[in-house]
Amino acid sequence: MSQLPPPEHIAIIMDGNSRWARERLLPRVMGHKAGIEAIRRAAEAANQRGIRVLTLYAFSTENWSRPKDEVDALMSLFSETIRREVDELARRGIELRFSGRIHELSPALQDQMRQASERTRVSSRAILNIAINYGGRIEIVDAVRELAGEGADLTQLDEARLAAHLYTRGLPDPDLVIRTAGEMRLSNFLLWQAAYSEFHCTPTLWPDFGEADFDEALAAYQRRVRRFGARPEEISNRGR
Ligand code: IPE
Ligand code: IPE
Ligand code: MG
Repeated sequence: MSQLPPPEHIAIIMDGNSRWARERLLPRVMGHKAGIEAIRRAAEAANQRGIRVLTLYAFSTENWSRPKDEVDALMSLFSETIRREVDELARRGIELRFSGRIHELSPALQDQMRQASERTRVSSRAILNIAINYGGRIEIVDAVRELAGEGADLTQLDEARLAAHLYTRGLPDPDLVIRTAGEMRLSNFLLWQAAYSEFHCTPTLWPDFGEADFDEALAAYQRRVRRFGARPEEISNRGR
């Protein structure tokens, strides 16, 4: 049986950092720190395998309800990581993008994010898209608000026009969504964009996620049959 071509866009719900830390009797922030290393590995693996877009769910609009010290530690980690990685990303032609309610983050972090995006946009071969302060429902509300603000006739709104106002505008929909740590839910991630994504769930906790897990997810994806609502025998163009 023929296999699907590799996905163009993979999106990952990076879950299980806290469980990873708890298993080691470490504070939660150590789990998040170890999670950053897993991000490096995943980004490297995606790049080596020619995946054009990798979206990583780093912080949800609901994650503000966590203890303040954890939220502060996460924000510091994001800032440190951008500072440390931006040169290497630029060198490798990986464009850094951010999807979410960016205007609600600290002005310093926003500046850093803007600069990192501009810096890496120059020779973009691949895209690393970080979903930060991201919520799928509010993303759709924000898109409609933006359209209304532009004076668009909402009675004539269609899917393409709405999609062009999402935080992920310009990116293809994810072909594959991976969730780590055994949970089987979307947690408000890419609700619109994942309409026909294939889903892969692994028990591996995010800080332990490595190349082998990445390849397992890819292989599972390539064995799937994507129907997009059609009869299987009518699918001439499998995948994209
Ligand atoms: C995922 O790890 C990271 C974020 C949501 C920021 P968690 O902190 O959710 O870890 P678990 O799911 O509680 O183990
Ligand atoms: C989803 O993980 C959000 C991110 C990975 C950033 P959560 O740990 O916040 O999701 P729930 O609460 O288990 O659904
Ligand atoms: Mg979690």
